Order: sequence, then structure tokens, then C-alpha cells
Amino acid sequence: MSDDLVHVTTHIVRRLNVKFFVDTADLNDIKDLAATGLLDGVTTNPSLVAKSGHSNFIDLIKDICAVVSGPVSAEVAATDFDTMMAEGLYLSKIAKNIAVKVPLTPAGLKVCKTLSQQGTMVNVTLCFSAAQAILAAKAGATFVSPFVGRLDDIGENGMQLIADICEIYKAYPQFKTEVLVASVRHPMHVVDAAKLGAHVATIPPNVIRQLFAHPLTEKGLAQFVADWQKTGQKILPEGVQPMKTGRA
Ligand code: E4P
Repeated sequence: MSDDLVHVTTHIVRRLNVKFFVDTADLNDIKDLAATGLLDGVTTNPSLVAKSGHSNFIDLIKDICAVVSGPVSAEVAATDFDTMMAEGLYLSKIAKNIAVKVPLTPAGLKVCKTLSQQGTMVNVTLCFSAAQAILAAKAGATFVSPFVGRLDDIGENGMQLIADICEIYKAYPQFKTEVLVASVRHPMHVVDAAKLGAHVATIPPNVIRQLFAHPLTEKGLAQFVADWQKTGQKILPEGVQPMKTGRA
């Protein structure tokens, strides 16, 4: 296949696969959102684990992996190569859908390269520049996580970083690293990430729920329900019961 064709094919595949991960360590939220059938994975980090109140990180990750079949990011706690490697190997054995999350540091990238070569998924986190994203791709990362919200917070343009990384990665089809838009704060971050062809957005639970909402949808539905009642009709014939999934 020519490089041009690879480029076009890659572009089409990206457009067909906007993946949504949930950015949380709250198991109830994960179960609730997994039930929508629209959840492709989970990202956690030490701050989210602390916020969840869970006292056993390993059990928590096992439980999450039992609920979600897509990639589940579990972050190492150490910052030196030797300990990060040991932690990464340990985490990678919890389930086959673990993505070991490592910080974008020289030691973190060495861990990334080693684990990636062994066939383990790696998510390189705390990416704040295009230069760092190039390093992550060269280290064989499965995902690179640029933090858009934290850049916006300091007066920089987080989404411009996504545009820059997507442009660079598209220029090198041999880079297999997926752009995982992180530190998402609102639905427009998700829409802008999709417009740019980013592979994944990891989204806090409340923002995922906001994606469904529009006041005109609610208003329109209320009108349809009221008008249907006026017709006095039913779609289901006598004896045909609704399904009993227990879901709303
Ligand atoms: C990414 O994987 C991180 O968990 C997360 O997106 C960080 O977001 P924050 O800036 O809201 O903490």
C-alpha cells in the first residue's frame, strides 16, 4: 500500500472510531456509564483513586476490568525506572485490558518503550507539548494523554496542542500512538477533539452525561409524549410486554 493510501485509510479509520473513555475511579459511575453501551474504556490516576476513597487500588482496578472490556489505564506510583517497571509489570498482569499509565519523563518513556516491546498497552500521561507527544510516539506508546483543560487553565490553548499532535502523527503513519484527549472539562472539548480526528477523549462522568443533554430534545420529547397521549393509541398490542432490563 502506498504511503498516501495508508494516510487516507488511517484518516478514515480515525473518523469511524471516536472512542470515549470515562475519567474516573468511581466504580458506580463506571457501571452506570458502561450500561449505555457507549463506553470504550476507563482512565484512572492517583488523584482520582484518592478522591474515590478506595483503600485497595489493585482490587479496584480488578473490579473496573471486570466491568469494562476496553482499555483500563492504571497508573504507576513511583517515578524511578526500576520501581516503575516493577509496578508496570505487576499492573499489566491484573487483566489483559490494562494500559499501564506512566508519566512523560525520561524514565517514564523508558518504561513505556520496554513494556510496549513486551506487548503491554502503555498510556503516557501528563503531556503538555507537541515535542513530548513526539517522544511518546517514538517510545511506542499506545496512547498519549495531552491535558487540554490544564493548559486552558494557565491561559494556553489546549485544543491547539491536540491539533498540532494530530497533524504530526498523521504525517508519520508508522506512529501507532493514539491521541487520548485528557483533562476534558466540558462538551465542547469533546466536539473539538472529534473535529480534529483525535482517537479518544477521556471524559469525566458529569461531562459524559452532559453530552446527551439538549433543552430542545427535552422540550420536543415532552411535546411528543403529550401529543401521543391525546391520540389515545398504543404501539404495543395487548399481551406484548416491555422488556425487563431494569434500565431507565
Ligand atoms: C488523564 O488521564 C487524567 O486522568 C485526567 O484527564 C486529568 O484531568 P484533570 O486535569 O481534570 O485532573
